[in-house]
Amino acid sequence: MRIPIVAANWKMHKTVAEAEAYFRKLLALVPKSPGVELVVFPSATALHVAARELEGSPIAWGAQNAHPEPQGAFTGEVSVVQITDLGASYLICGHSERRHIFGEDDAFVAAKVKAALKAGLIPILCVGETLEQREGGQAWTVVERQLSAALSGIELPTPEKLVIAYEPVWAIGTGVPARPQDAQEMAAQIRNWLGDRFGELGKQVRIQYGGSVKPENAQDFLALPDIDGALVGGASLDPEKFWTIAQAALG
Ligand code: PGA
Repeated sequence: MRIPIVAANWKMHKTVAEAEAYFRKLLALVPKSPGVELVVFPSATALHVAARELEGSPIAWGAQNAHPEPQGAFTGEVSVVQITDLGASYLICGHSERRHIFGEDDAFVAAKVKAALKAGLIPILCVGETLEQREGGQAWTVVERQLSAALSGIELPTPEKLVIAYEPVWAIGTGVPARPQDAQEMAAQIRNWLGDRFGELGKQVRIQYGGSVKPENAQDFLALPDIDGALVGGASLDPEKFWTIAQAALG
């Protein structure tokens, strides 16, 4: 059974005090066994707050970014090993903002996924096409390339060790989500690909949709047969909205 997984990507938002207030509010809303896995991705400066506030709770947390090298001369970077040391369990890899704004290529994303798995973190691997690529009929070609590159040489001991987030670039932060049928079609293709690549285990890997998910449309995506959760940016900054979205995964 694929347990739904709904994640909050705060991006570059919230001070330490705001993070603290958020976690307290969220913890007051979420029951002990929510029936859906919740993961919060704060900024690096608030990871220690997540470690402290979420300890022993049903809410997991992870880092939005980390460098694949365990240590070294990489000014300004934080390594996968350092993130694990803080107690994180997840790492976002290949987010379109990292690919497009910071120039991370497929090889770098692949190194990050490998390093994350080696350190014991679960990667949420983001894939997705630009509007131009979709309009040019290239959506699947692009997503398949991103999957093959990022997962080359990877072994999957259990399906929970990997999550895929399908995030069409043009839907992120724009308020304009993908059409649910397009998201379902892509998720089904991704699931088939994972089955070919990893066998039965691969078919059980959870697939999220991301891109302008909000309380008003969450159900449209979370009810789809191949979509097991959401990666939420803007709407996740409010704990009440985030919890409302997560509840849509319960059907
Ligand atoms: P959004 O961001 O929900 O603000 O569109 C999604 C994401 O970047 O993961």
